[in-house]
Amino acid sequence: MLISPLSRTKRNSNSKNPMQHLLSIEELNAEKLNALIDLAVDLKATRGNHPELPLSGQTWAMIFTKSSTRTRVSFEVGVRELGGSIMFLSSNDIQLGRGEPIKDTARVLGRMVHGCIIRTFDQQDVIDFSNYGNIPTINALTDAEHPCQILADLLTVKEKLGTWEGKKCVFIGDGDNNMSRSWIWAAKYLGFELVIASPETCLPPSDFMEKVNTPNVSLTTDPVEAIKGADVINTDVWLSMGQEGQKEKEALFGPYQVNEDILKNTAEGHIVLHCLPAYREKEITEQILELHADTIFQQAENRLHAQKAVLATIAR
Ligand code: CP
Ligand code: NVA
Repeated sequence: MLISPLSRTKRNSNSKNPMQHLLSIEELNAEKLNALIDLAVDLKATRGNHPELPLSGQTWAMIFTKSSTRTRVSFEVGVRELGGSIMFLSSNDIQLGRGEPIKDTARVLGRMVHGCIIRTFDQQDVIDFSNYGNIPTINALTDAEHPCQILADLLTVKEKLGTWEGKKCVFIGDGDNNMSRSWIWAAKYLGFELVIASPETCLPPSDFMEKVNTPNVSLTTDPVEAIKGADVINTDVWLSMGQEGQKEKEALFGPYQVNEDILKNTAEGHIVLHCLPAYREKEITEQILELHADTIFQQAENRLHAQKAVLATIAR
């Protein structure tokens, strides 16, 4: 008998500790990461023709206190494609924006909707929401992590290079932001080599690296050395949302721009990733972004497929 990729027994029972939420990559493991990527591959292949709709009859909410193009659109489309309906709640429009605590917001929404997707600043807010709301909760980006993006990135690496095993991945830019931290956790669990190349003051702090405690992630301030032989070169904005105006920080990143020069000593067949939005002539040149646009916009599309895998896995 054929088992649908969306069947509940298949999608979330291969672990003693099934996924209830997606709050971070940190809380996952190799088994869960691989299961999500495999399901994303299935869902991408069966888009428009899914044998089951696991969100049928459900309403999901999105609470965003930061801007978004990709995350918002991919979740709105993804929930609908899995049979559910979705409401977007800008924090300015709900009482959260006037100071109502997240734990009260969670206890109200938890009695009305079937799941919630949150983009905000403080990681503790998504943790609190998941605890108080008692409904599946997804981190759609906090200052600490961007787990949905990393799932899409991994799917893109798999599609473009076949595997991440044995590949040298480099994250160049702000080594201590949500993207770099999520990539570090992914490298720990999946075992690929990851080099973080960043100005000294933007490297992940030692207490974080001690917590990760893995030999396959290294830190350097030397972008040229870092990129030598790299298969995957990944960058992100120099100033994340909430850091606008930090000109002194931005001024540190000149040598970390992804440009034609720095890519000279990469591995043959290397790919360039950018989670977007991209700031041309800052973290990446127009020339390199357009040269790798096929990969970068495939990466953006993969947000949809990866997040549908998350939704299908954690939906109750
Ligand atoms: N990469 C990403 O999360 O894009 P948005 O901010 O547009 O959602
Ligand atoms: N590090 C970036 C990611 C944007 C998708 C930010 O937080 O703004």
